[in-house]
This record gives sequence, structure tokens and C-alpha cells, in this order.
Amino acid sequence: MNKPTDQTLEALGAIVGPRGLVTGLDLLTPWETDWRGRYTGKALAMVLPATTAEVSAVVRLCAQRGVPIVPQGGNSGMSGGATPDASGREVILSTRRMNAIEPIDPASRQVTCEAGVVLQTLHEAAEAHGLRFPLTLGGKGSATVGGLISTNAGGTQVLRHGVMRAQVLGLEAVLPDGRIFSALTPLRKDNRGFDLKQMFIGSEGTLGIVTAATLRLVPAIAERVVVWAGTASIHAARALLLNCEQALGDALEGFEVVPQGCLESVLAYLPDARPPLARPHAWNALIEVVADAGSAASLRGRVEAAMARAFDQGLVEDAVLSASEAQAEAFWTLRESISAAERARGPAMQHDISVPVERMPDFLVTVSREIEAAWPGTRAVGYGHLGDGNIHFHVGAPAGSDRAGWEAGDGKAISRQVHDAVTRCGGSISAEHGIGQLKIDELERLGDPVALHLMRAVKRALDPAELFNPGKLVTLAPETSAP
Ligand code: MLT
Ligand code: ZN
Repeated sequence: MNKPTDQTLEALGAIVGPRGLVTGLDLLTPWETDWRGRYTGKALAMVLPATTAEVSAVVRLCAQRGVPIVPQGGNSGMSGGATPDASGREVILSTRRMNAIEPIDPASRQVTCEAGVVLQTLHEAAEAHGLRFPLTLGGKGSATVGGLISTNAGGTQVLRHGVMRAQVLGLEAVLPDGRIFSALTPLRKDNRGFDLKQMFIGSEGTLGIVTAATLRLVPAIAERVVVWAGTASIHAARALLLNCEQALGDALEGFEVVPQGCLESVLAYLPDARPPLARPHAWNALIEVVADAGSAASLRGRVEAAMARAFDQGLVEDAVLSASEAQAEAFWTLRESISAAERARGPAMQHDISVPVERMPDFLVTVSREIEAAWPGTRAVGYGHLGDGNIHFHVGAPAGSDRAGWEAGDGKAISRQVHDAVTRCGGSISAEHGIGQLKIDELERLGDPVALHLMRAVKRALDPAELFNPGKLVTLAPETSAP
């Protein structure tokens, strides 16, 4: 053990113990590639601290030795934000062993837990106390609290409950110099200056490693009705959304759209799945409506009345209301499998965009048409969170394309065209999945120079050596001109 890297590994092992250090190729490999399979790196090692104190000690050691750290939760991110580079110098810091949940006091409607807690586990812990953590997404079986916070995750309940940022009441994070920022406060009001915890939410591990959080909980659902409705167009789906908002108010939790092409991908991908409606419709809306104990009895009647009005107005071609929890889950399984089903179809450029909700229908029709005309053989589909104006707009490669070549050539040009259109509409090129390494160039090209300058200023203040998640979201490359 003479080489500096061997000494580093030995020192890391001394902090986290043998269970906390992974160096074997076969054990490391799955964590060196992102979920979408777009990026593969090579890490020096994976370190799995068991406590915040161990995270702090690992960070201090890495800071002394100039070793970059890539924080990682469930490795289910969509933008390559948790994948190391190819240098073999970076250490992946996994929070998987930090998975404790403190006893929940139902009266406080809060939970404090460590960063490695898996979302599904958090849901179950809250349910055991008659409560609910009101954020969910397809990757709930792997996504961790730390990853959800670091990427400011969204999911399918944002319409009613907001993004991850809205769920975080307090937070603990380790800074790039190893100090611990501790703000796990249960206070609902606290006005002592900057709300510093916000710096660590959505900053993708570039400013700190989130180690624990205090999160808000809401009352459990007493009754829910999930509607699968077929519509003739995305414009009709948008009108249906407005109707539901008006008729159902706060009971409306989610409003997702699924074009027929995506439903077909899912049905091909899940052999046991069945289409919810008798015949295909150009678009489908998946509508989640819930009630707590006080208003459970009247929920189904209200949903039926809202859907009847939508039929009368010609907005819906056909619809089915879930008759059981099993059927409600089956509808959601179709929706939550789109990502994996589309991935299985072959290479595609995935755009995670938002534009003002009222402009989304025109945007989807126009940009899909333009892309498919300009790039023969491509297939444009947009699906997802219409309720909050965030659509996943995928452009599939022509059949037979070589993946790497297409992504680096035509695919890249297509992404620029999509992002230009989004920017013209006053939208965002990353509504939900973050920047990671996937969109760092596009953020530089299209981002507000003042905002980029501010992000660099914060990065420079906290991590001047760029040892926290380098090459993701924000880098300290010299600014060419004053903003
Ligand atoms: C979803 O909404 O399904 C996820 O954000 C993943 C995706 O982009 O498909
Ligand atoms: Zn999404």
C-alpha cells in the first residue's frame, strides 16, 4: 500500500469499516452507469458511510487529498447527476446505509429521517401512523430521500402538494470542507436570515451532501377515485383539466396525460397489462381524486358529476372510474411504466420541459410536427404531468439508428431545436429531472447569464476546489464576459 490511491482507500476504509468500502469491479459496476444507460464512468471506489459523522470524516479526508466525491442515492436519476466521470479518480459516496427513520409523532405531522431512506419505505412508515408523505413517482422503490432533495424531485402529485422543496421543513448536510450544516428544525416559522437549507435542495450535490431531513406529512387518504379518460386531442385534455380543477378543487391530486403511442409501448412492455378503455383514443388522461375522512362519502358522486359534465361538453370520448384499489393501482402502473417502456423501445432524446400550462397543447402539436418533418423517421411523444405544465417530450431515433452516433449527431441537433422552442415559450429545459451532466451545455447556452453567475458565485464560496459532484450542474469555468 504505497501508491497515493491505495493510501486513500486505506484511510477511507479506516473511517467506514470493511462494510462501508466497495472497490471490487463487479460490485462497483452497477453504480457507475446511470439509470438511462447514457453515461458510464469509472470510480476509484464507493464509500458507504453509516452516520453523518462518517460522511463528514470522509469529506475531510477527500478534501485534504483532492479526491472528488459523487454523491449517490438510489441511482435512478434521469440526467446522469450521480454517475462518476471516466477518470477513475472520483469516489462515489452512497447514502444507502443511512436509512433510519426517527419515531413518528402523528400529532406533529412531520418525520425526520436519514438521506438513504427509500421513498417507498417512507410512504409505508407514514401510513403506519395514519399519515402520508405526499410525493410519489415511478422510481419510488429505489429513489432515496437525499436524492429526491438534491434533485428537487417532482412526481405525480405536484399539482396539489408541490415539489420536494415544498415538503422539506428542515435539513442536515455536510459541506465540502466537512463541516455539518444542521437545520433539522421542526419550526414552521423561522426568519433568522437566509433560508440556507434551500441551497442544498435542487443543487444536485454540488454544494453539500444531504444526510438527513425533516419532512412534512399530510393526513392519510380515506377514499380515492382514479379516472382513466380518453380524449380526442391534447387540447381537449387541457380543457378537461380546467373542468376538473373547477369541479373538484383540492380533491384533485394529479392529472397526467398519456398519448396512445406511449400506452402502446407500455402494453408491449408489460405483457399482463390491459388497456383501460374499449378502444384507443389519441390521448388519455389519468386523473387522481382523493378525500380524507371528512369528505370521503361524497367523493365518488362528485367525480361522476364532473365526468358527466365533461362528456356533455364533448371533452371526453370515454372514461372509466376505478372500482377498487387494485384497479386504481393498475391504472397507475400503466402510467408509471412509461419511462421504462419507452427506454426499451430504443434510442431517444428525452426532454423534460415545462412551458406555461395554457401553451402546452399548442407547443406539443407544433413542435412534434416540426421535429418529425425535419428529421424523417423520428417519433415525437409527450407524456406526463400536464397538471403542472411539465411534459416529458421524447424523440425516438429512426429505426436501425446506431445509438451513440445518432445521439451525438442528429439527436443533439434535435435537442437544441426542442430547447430553443421551449425557451421561446418562456419555459424551462429542465422542469423536473435536473441538469446533471446531460444538460450542462444547454444550460450554459440558454440559461440567464445573471442566474449562471450567481450559481457560480455560490459554488465558488462553498466548493472552490470543485470536489463535490464535478462536471454536474455548475462548473467554475472562467466567465467570458461580465453578466
Ligand atoms: C415520469 O414522469 O415518468 C418520470 O419523471 C420519468 C420520465 O421522464 O419518464
Ligand atoms: Zn416525470
